[in-house]
Amino acid sequence: MMSMTEEKLPPPVDAARLREVLGQYPTGVCVVTAIGPDGQPVGLTVGSFGSVSLDPPLVAFMPDKRSSSWPKIRPAGVFCVNVLSMEQEPLCRSFASKAPDKFAQVEWTSAPSGSPAIAGASAWIDCDLERVDDAGDHEIVLGRVRDLESRPEALPLLFFRGGYGRFGPMSMVANDAYLSEQLRVVDAVRGEMDIAARDLGGQVVAWSVVGDALVLVASAGELAAGTTWSTVGERVPLIPPVGSAIMAWQDADRIDEWLGRVGDPAIRDMYRARLDGARERGYSVLLDTPNVTDVMRLIDERRLPGEVEALGKEQREALASLPSDPLHFSPAEARKVRAIFLPVKGRDGSTLIALGIRLSRTLSGPADLRHHVERIRDVTERVSRSLTTS
Ligand SMILES: Cc1cc2nc3c(=O)[nH]c(=O)nc-3n(C[C@H](O)[C@H](O)[C@H](O)COP(=O)(O)O)c2cc1C
Repeated sequence: MMSMTEEKLPPPVDAARLREVLGQYPTGVCVVTAIGPDGQPVGLTVGSFGSVSLDPPLVAFMPDKRSSSWPKIRPAGVFCVNVLSMEQEPLCRSFASKAPDKFAQVEWTSAPSGSPAIAGASAWIDCDLERVDDAGDHEIVLGRVRDLESRPEALPLLFFRGGYGRFGPMSMVANDAYLSEQLRVVDAVRGEMDIAARDLGGQVVAWSVVGDALVLVASAGELAAGTTWSTVGERVPLIPPVGSAIMAWQDADRIDEWLGRVGDPAIRDMYRARLDGARERGYSVLLDTPNVTDVMRLIDERRLPGEVEALGKEQREALASLPSDPLHFSPAEARKVRAIFLPVKGRDGSTLIALGIRLSRTLSGPADLRHHVERIRDVTERVSRSLTTS
């Protein structure tokens, strides 16, 4: 038998190779904060956060021994882990720097431990420092959770192979107490959405109305790199023509209420005529115009308020300009179609959800449009059937 000293050791793993292979594992991004010994807030970006134990409630992260912030956090005996949301990439970069005052432009409040809870984060987890273990050029820090909070409507920032991204779900469902009936529909529709997205290409989406907003409740597939895409939980204030695919199949009172959000009676009549057109066709379309990309970006990047009341004048005008179901739309204009939506009816016959596709390519003509409409209709009918029999 060989002794330990004689045993042949495997060759050391090259650091570059470690980085490359381990970079294949995606992480979320957090900023760990505390109040330093000088009374000033401190923080650093970490990707090494994870949950460890439910009972007792323990979490961990791993600071580099070269970190200049960690030696200021440690004496506090408490820290707060801020899970960054997808809008917070600049914050992530600044807390990954050695800038002297990383908190200069940052809004925060005190978590119960006194550590900074950063505004706009998708969650914070406030901890007592439980123990610190040595781990090579890092340390392993265990924290005992004392309090925590999340914003379920926020989506996290992701880090992968040295780049940032956000969650582009194969299929994901919004988490909203008001949406129970719609979510039942979505449960029935999810698998179908995945298959349709794969068959057609593009992003298959399910929108529903909650209060006076249109909310994205499920999404499958994805769009070409460089384009924005809708993410679950996204809200758009419900003013014409937003929500046409659902409103076209509502009762007269609800349609009037929706149209009432437009001040000018002539424009109101125009939207009513557009809605009639969509109902006759059986589907609603959004056409490609120069401004539609800008408006979609505004929506996808969540730069709009969720409520009609909170819309500014320019934002109202931007939404009103969406080229939805123009009066003279004929299938021959299929090449201009950017998105198609069809209604899914609930048990009582009302329209619960608009199921649609955001196209990732230009349609070749009327036959291609028909193919897409039929394919989405196939899904909506199957779902309606499963709802009435379940
Ligand atoms: C996505 C990402 C993840 C990171 N994860 C860690 C980590 O887990 N541990 C760590 O010590 N540093 C991590 N860093 C690096 C620190 O944020 C960076 O070294 C920072 O300069 C530390 O600042 P400090 O010296 O003020 O502590 C990460 C940086 C990025 C961008």
